[in-house]
Amino acid sequence: MNTLRVGCIGLGNMGGALISALSGRGNTEIFGYDPDDAKVETFVQLPDFSARTSAGEVFQAAEFVVIAVKPQVMARVLAEISPVLTPRNCLISIAAGIGMQQLREWTGARCAVVRVMPNTPALVRSGVSAVCFDDPQLTQFQKAVIAELLELLGQVHVLPEQDFHAFTALVGSGPAYVYYFMDALVQSGVSFGLSRAQAETMVAGLLAGSVKLASESRMELSALQAMVTSPAGTTVAALNHLDRNALRGILIDAVGQAEKRSRALGRAAG
Ligand SMILES: NC(=O)c1ccc[n+]([C@@H]2O[C@H](COP(=O)([O-])OP(=O)(O)OC[C@H]3O[C@@H](n4cnc5c(N)ncnc54)[C@H](OP(=O)(O)O)[C@@H]3O)[C@@H](O)[C@H]2O)c1
Repeated sequence: MNTLRVGCIGLGNMGGALISALSGRGNTEIFGYDPDDAKVETFVQLPDFSARTSAGEVFQAAEFVVIAVKPQVMARVLAEISPVLTPRNCLISIAAGIGMQQLREWTGARCAVVRVMPNTPALVRSGVSAVCFDDPQLTQFQKAVIAELLELLGQVHVLPEQDFHAFTALVGSGPAYVYYFMDALVQSGVSFGLSRAQAETMVAGLLAGSVKLASESRMELSALQAMVTSPAGTTVAALNHLDRNALRGILIDAVGQAEKRSRALGRAAG
């Protein structure tokens, strides 16, 4: 099997998570660059990692390069590396809100580009990522390698770029909705006299257990709700309250607001 050479520019939260997940894969050399030496220092002990002293050197060493810098420094980084890009490179951007057209423009279309939108649980390899393979320069081999690399961070969904706004609103922003919901449940526990620590542990267990049951039983969500909702019982009293206050509609509209905002930010970015 040929050795895979993967680079990462920006070794912060996301870049660091990718390198940690990638290290030990076997048949893989990892190259990284970050201007912050302390971040580079975190990875130099890894046997398959080599630091490089510029973003351009990472592209010269690796075929597949993830750019994991903040969106506001992307233009500068891509202007710097653009002269060294060749068709053997494949550039993978995880920068939120920077579209394919912009990436092609900044790279002068000198290599294939891929846009990825991960979410924060990728930091513990339980993320959900969308990947856009709309660049016609991409080969089947490149697509397969990238899908495999991203699977190290969790679920991967191949989407056309037009669906990225919906994905961003539902899944990119999604962890915040889940933590908001969990925090409200914790507050209700505290209001009944449970300690915050107890309520937080209970709510975390409630979420993890409910998700596990849903995925292992493969039952419809409505059937899983019915399992807990006995006639004239406690659960139906709570669900009636949620329905009277239109929580379902509020959630649908909230995600709709996020989608609208994502489109507006996309237009502003050009
Ligand atoms: N975190 C998330 O949940 C999440 C989710 C989806 C997408 N993303 C995207 O992932 C990207 C990275 O986010 P993050 O949370 O990992 O950010 P981060 O922790 O701030 O990491 C970015 C790293 O890039 C370094 N950097 C700055 N300028 C650089 C340059 N010219 N060349 C190379 N490295 C440079 C930064 O160093 P300094 O700290 O010294 O500036 C920092 O170490 C962003 O574009 C973000 O939109 C993140």
